[in-house]
Order: sequence, then structure tokens, then C-alpha cells
Amino acid sequence: MQEVKKQEKIVHMFDDIAKSYDKANRVMSLGIDVRWRKEACKKAFEALGVVEIERIADIACGTGDMIIHWQNEACNAQKNIKEIIGIDPSKGMLEVAQDKLSHLIENKKITLEVGEAKALNLPSDSVDILSIAYGLRNVVELDAALDEFARVLKPQGILVILEFMNDSKKGWIRSLMKFYTRKILPFVGGMISKNYAAYAYLPDSIKGFVSVEELKQRLLKRGIESYFIKGYSADISTLYVGIKK
Ligand SMILES: C[S@@+](CC[C@H](N)C(=O)[O-])C[C@H]1O[C@@H](n2cnc3c(N)ncnc32)[C@H](O)[C@@H]1O
Repeated sequence: MQEVKKQEKIVHMFDDIAKSYDKANRVMSLGIDVRWRKEACKKAFEALGVVEIERIADIACGTGDMIIHWQNEACNAQKNIKEIIGIDPSKGMLEVAQDKLSHLIENKKITLEVGEAKALNLPSDSVDILSIAYGLRNVVELDAALDEFARVLKPQGILVILEFMNDSKKGWIRSLMKFYTRKILPFVGGMISKNYAAYAYLPDSIKGFVSVEELKQRLLKRGIESYFIKGYSADISTLYVGIKK
């Protein structure tokens, strides 16, 4: 029950900041996330190794940035994607995505659905690539979500996670980056969105999240083996790409 309340609070928070989310994101990341997202798509295509891709599911799709990247990178890599499904529990975030992606949604290739990572409205063994970008930290029932990812992915299907992992490594560059993410970013995000509480949640959610090693082990228990793991910008952001065996 406590978990349900906590999750509802997080989703309401995203509803509240949905309209200013893209602007805050652009300023806070200084556009660096574009590189991280592109690399995630490229590595996933490489790991999957086929030209025809039936279904990509982007979980915690938010305002749809990752969907746009899947679409663009597929063109660059000459891949053909039949269907992309974006799933998110925040109606506010999905409304922004709907506007942003309207030109793509018209061709019926892309659909957006309200839903949570722990209960995906997708058949078992039906997804070629499942991505979740900066969303997993917000999933209160992490293990239930990982179970779902393992269930819906096809054998040899690819899991892509981009996330701010909880990292205990030391060093002055890391300390500087941590200061930036934990002190400066919440302030900047708060100013742009006028919702300081929402952006104060960012460092708390990173602190409360698992390390990449822990995540790797939990996925391995579910039959997902790591294919590529890389930390970017002094490990502020981590890319995990795994294959369901
Ligand atoms: C930081 S945003 C990331 C959005 C987008 N993926 C991106 O890369 O910009 C986190 C998203 O996670 C969603 N979220 C929160 N709880 C979730 C859950 N239990 N299952 C799926 N998504 C969730 C939020 O609604 C929000 O849209």
C-alpha cells in the first residue's frame, strides 16, 4: 500500500512538470543526453543484428524523446521498424508526447499507452527491443518491472536501460559531477518548472537506486545477459544493453 502511494506521488509529480519537462531537460543536460541516446540505439541495433524489427517498446516514454531517437537511428542504420509502443503512467507526459509525435502517430506506426512498467499490456515473447531511458529509478516496484521486461522480450530480444545509477566510486571529477547533479541541476530544474520539490526528488531518487552491478545481477537471474555496459561523463549516466537468452 505504501508502495502504491509512493508510486502515485511520483506519477503526479511528472504530471505537474510535464509541460516544462523538455525545456528543463534541454537546459539541464546541455544536450549531452542526445549522444547517450544515440549510442543506446546503435548498440541495440548491433546486438539485435537484424534489419526487420517487429516491435520496439519504450517504457517510461515520457514526452517521447527516445521514440524519436529510435525512429531517426533506424533510418541512419537502415533498419525497418514495424511498430513502436510508448508506455508511461503519466497522462501529462503522454499528452506532450502525443503533440510532439503527432506527425509520426498519423502513420499508425507509433502508439502511446498509459501503463506502468510492473504490468505491461504486452504479450509474452513479443518485443524485439525494450528501452527505458531515465525511467527505472522512478519505478517503485523494481523487481516486478524486471520480471515484466524478461517476460515480454522475445528470446534474443534486447533490453536497453539508460539511467543515473547509484555509484559509490570516488575521485574528484566524480565528486564534481555529483555536486552538479545533486545541487545545481535540481536548482535549475526547479527554476524552469517552478516546481522545486519535483527536482529535489532527482538526487534522492539516484541515491535510493541500485548500482549497475546490482542491476546486472538481478537481470542475470531473469535470463538477461549483459552485452554492453558503459558509463558516460564520469559515470553520471550509464548505458546497459542486455540480451534475453
Ligand atoms: C525522467 S522521465 C524520463 C522520460 C523519457 N524516457 C526520457 O528519456 O526523457 C521518467 C518517466 O518515468 C515515468 N514513470 C514513473 N513511474 C513509472 C512506472 N512505475 N512505470 C513506468 N514509467 C514510470 C514518468 O511518468 C516519467 O515520464
